[in-house]
Amino acid sequence: MAAPRARREALVLGNWKMNGDAASAEALLAGVQAGARDLPGVAGVCPPYPYLALAAARLAGSGVAWGAQDVSAFEDGAYTGEVSARMLVDLGCTWTLVGHSERRTLFGDTDAEVVRKTTRALAAGLVPVVCVGETLAEREAGATEAVLARQIDAVCPVLRDAGERCVLAYEPVWAIGTGLTASPAQAQAAHAFIRARLASGGVVAAPGLRLLYGGSVKPSNAVELFGQPDVDGGLIGGASLVAADFLSICRAAAGRS
Ligand code: PGA
Repeated sequence: MAAPRARREALVLGNWKMNGDAASAEALLAGVQAGARDLPGVAGVCPPYPYLALAAARLAGSGVAWGAQDVSAFEDGAYTGEVSARMLVDLGCTWTLVGHSERRTLFGDTDAEVVRKTTRALAAGLVPVVCVGETLAEREAGATEAVLARQIDAVCPVLRDAGERCVLAYEPVWAIGTGLTASPAQAQAAHAFIRARLASGGVVAAPGLRLLYGGSVKPSNAVELFGQPDVDGGLIGGASLVAADFLSICRAAAGRS
């Protein structure tokens, strides 16, 4: 289902992962903030938790939103080391990533956990950015659609009532941090599949939802990827750590035809 996307605004989120320190976070925030003046609403950053307050201080009123890389599945209480959705709201977060493949593979986030986290995010007023994607072995086994279907079907029940207050990110695991990128045609096929699956799962807002592509997006491949009809922007890892590269990717999304 290639939905008309005129009403879907471009969105590019930088996933800083566990990189840097206060000084580098400060410099990156300043660079993004200065360069995104002509891109209101397009760019967002997801710094590590300790720098969210810094993001709030530096980005308030700038047109660049900020969010977290993960959220607790629990509301409140004796959960050592966890960060609740309400705390993220207190820090001014718009978004939180949920189900990033590094969480799924390194920290054991299951589909059920992703559902609980998505539920908490929505209940607190955050926009969940639900990440899905297949591994190389799954793609080579011809199981890409089956994996995406399983991951999407799990979250459909909680996304049904969210309207357009959610974002999906397609991130093929084999393309994350590897320098390998899905071809524009592969990305489009996966995005169209995800949108259709959401719709058939009862998410009536599916045609209006923003679907981001992630996995080795760079200034040199962004224009072509974002030119695909169902690719509404990107979730950027490595390239989001260099303000000029990140901004160039944001401009590619803002100018997509
Ligand atoms: P990458 O990471 O751009 O470094 O491939 C993307 C992501 O993990 O969100």
